[in-house]
Amino acid sequence: MAMAYLEESTTKSSLLLLFFCFTLTASNLLSATAANPIPTPWPHQFHSILFVNYSGSLSLIDLWYDWPNGRNFNIIQHQLGKLLYDVEWNNGTTFFYTLDSTKECRSNQIEVGILRPNWLDGATYLGQQHVDGFLCNVWEKVEFIWYYEDVVTKRPVHWVFYTGRSIQVMTFEVGAVLDDAKWQAPVYCFDKKDVKPGYNSDNKVDANFLKPQLEGVLRGSMQL
Ligand SMILES: *[C@@H]1O[C@H](CO)[C@@H](O)[C@H](O)[C@H]1NC(C)=O
Ligand SMILES: *[C@@H]1O[C@H](CO)[C@@H](O)[C@H](O)[C@H]1NC(C)=O
Repeated sequence: MAMAYLEESTTKSSLLLLFFCFTLTASNLLSATAANPIPTPWPHQFHSILFVNYSGSLSLIDLWYDWPNGRNFNIIQHQLGKLLYDVEWNNGTTFFYTLDSTKECRSNQIEVGILRPNWLDGATYLGQQHVDGFLCNVWEKVEFIWYYEDVVTKRPVHWVFYTGRSIQVMTFEVGAVLDDAKWQAPVYCFDKKDVKPGYNSDNKVDANFLKPQLEGVLRGSMQL
């Protein structure tokens, strides 16, 4: 009788312990989730002025991200240097050209389209950090990009590529769209002899699913 009671109470306390452990684990998981914010998806359309520093070589980029129309534009002004236009379409066609008398154009066909608004999904949360006077949540994705987002406004503030190319977001106009006419590549882009084979084939060696896509869309800011 006493034995049976003892056994029963042992079982009970084991169950209780088990339940307690489970509750602890569950609450740990819960708080872990709550403590790890995820990056805010990009607005479907926005215009941004980006300040770029690549080992001391400076440029300003007008970035026009336009997901519904499947296009992305980087207009790159190198400091006291070239003004370059870099259009990327979701069908994988890219145009990289000048609009001055040099009439340069390089067109490529890459295997991926522009970045999806949720391209930062799955990034690893690294905590919070002050950048340029803004308190930011920081993430890293596939050791390719480090991304800093304002904790309060959820706007991107800064990102850095593994190459060291550093981007500072100066303006972020949600909903801004560039006129259709401005997206049209010049006629000399359609001159067959200037079309070079896709540079992307060279990148396949170390490519995983994300890298070529990032390189495609953010090529202007990375110049890969
Ligand atoms: C650009 O980056 C370099 C380091 O690569 C740094 O020494 C320099 O101060 C930066 N320039 C500006 C204007 O931020
Ligand atoms: C992709 O779309 C652009 C813009 O409409 C066009 O100029 C280009 O020819 C298209 N590329 C292909 C492979 O269809």
